Amino acid sequence: MYYNLVLWKCIYFIFSNFKAIYLLGMSEDMLHREILFSTRVKHMKSSEIRELLKLISADIISFAGGAPDPRTFPDEEQLREAFDYVIENKSVAFQYGVTEGTPSLRKELSKFMSRNLGFKPDLDEIIITIGSQEALELIGRVSIDRGSKVVVELPTYIAAVQVFSFWRAKFIGIPLDDFGMRTDVLEKKLRRIYSKGGYIKFVYTIPTGHNPAGTVMSLDRRKHLLELAEEYNFYVIEDDPYGFITFTETIPPRLKSIDKNDRVIYLSTLSKIFGPGLRMGWAVGPKEVIRMMGLAKQAIDLCPPNFNQAVAEYFLKTGMIEDNIPKIRRIYREKRDAMLEALDEYMFKEAKWTRPEAGFFVFMYLPKTINTKALLYEAVNTIKVAYVPGSGFYINGGGQNTLRLSYSLPTPDVIREGIKRLSEFLYNKIRRRSIREYT
Ligand SMILES: Cc1ncc(COP(=O)(O)O)c(C=O)c1O
Repeated sequence: MYYNLVLWKCIYFIFSNFKAIYLLGMSEDMLHREILFSTRVKHMKSSEIRELLKLISADIISFAGGAPDPRTFPDEEQLREAFDYVIENKSVAFQYGVTEGTPSLRKELSKFMSRNLGFKPDLDEIIITIGSQEALELIGRVSIDRGSKVVVELPTYIAAVQVFSFWRAKFIGIPLDDFGMRTDVLEKKLRRIYSKGGYIKFVYTIPTGHNPAGTVMSLDRRKHLLELAEEYNFYVIEDDPYGFITFTETIPPRLKSIDKNDRVIYLSTLSKIFGPGLRMGWAVGPKEVIRMMGLAKQAIDLCPPNFNQAVAEYFLKTGMIEDNIPKIRRIYREKRDAMLEALDEYMFKEAKWTRPEAGFFVFMYLPKTINTKALLYEAVNTIKVAYVPGSGFYINGGGQNTLRLSYSLPTPDVIREGIKRLSEFLYNKIRRRSIREYT
């Protein structure tokens, strides 16, 4: 009887302290995982581009990142004027502010959009964000439940996928072609989902100067997408960081400007037309959506920095942002031309690539035998050229034979040299593969 009692006590002790005993045998890393980290961290993925950028040294020709050319940043005199304005308004600029952003900046942004984009939102339809990346995070927070269906393009912007997968979205991928998202494919998918009683939350798209595909969605497809949004009752997230970096006069209007039913949540940023260091983005959407995004933002950072907002406001108010845009377009057009000319001259005929009319990127499709991820480190080490393997942009595991080339940072001469080296490198790989397959 006594021994039974002791035995039961021992069993009880072991079970009640099982976790503690289990934890005692763990390494420090495992401890963090067990005690500190939430189950959500499993769904945090590192961006291939960010990892890749760590490898890039000064002797590498990098087509990898999408960083703007510093020559497009405002000049020193303009900045001095703006900083004087900030100092004059020091009591506001150094203070906490409104979560949705200072009313004066939202007013200037509304006028800016009205002058340049053809829509003029009210102040409570705008929220200022820390780059448009934060707007994506806010949308993820307020809209995605575990398993919520979200449509993205194939390929799509990696950091949007990072946000949506953290919030446990279920992705539906729709292919792109030279005219943007294949809305006919989307329609078929929607029909299938809704016929089974399912529904989608939103379609995320980068219609103008796509990252990574370098495409522009045609006007017909823009209209079709909005018709589908109305018919099937979903939102459209229009991510527009590159809409001002255009190289022709024939870019179709923004989705938001032809949206009659308030279906579009429009995101933009000063990152590519002023400088990403300012971290100034904004979202425009229905009042209730913006209010919810504001509530989510309170818990993240209370408010956007008043200091940066005052700088942005000054540049918008004085028209200096618009004045700088033609120069910015010229700089990138020259680089885009250099890349396309070099590709036309050096690249072999089996490769296909997009011819961007906006944005920073050319996207390349190589023969199926080529795995661009497997070749990347060799390319960096031997020919000293970096690119981004395309597979990371595909949520369906595709795109092994694709890659993204950014022309935003290197000079035209460097672009030509880099494309020449890359073409020879890839050509040798293809030739070797086909010899191996043949023999
Ligand atoms: C498609 C897309 N969306 C959003 C962002 C984020 O931009 P921001 O610097 O405004 O956060 C980027 C940045 O490159 C982008 O390419």
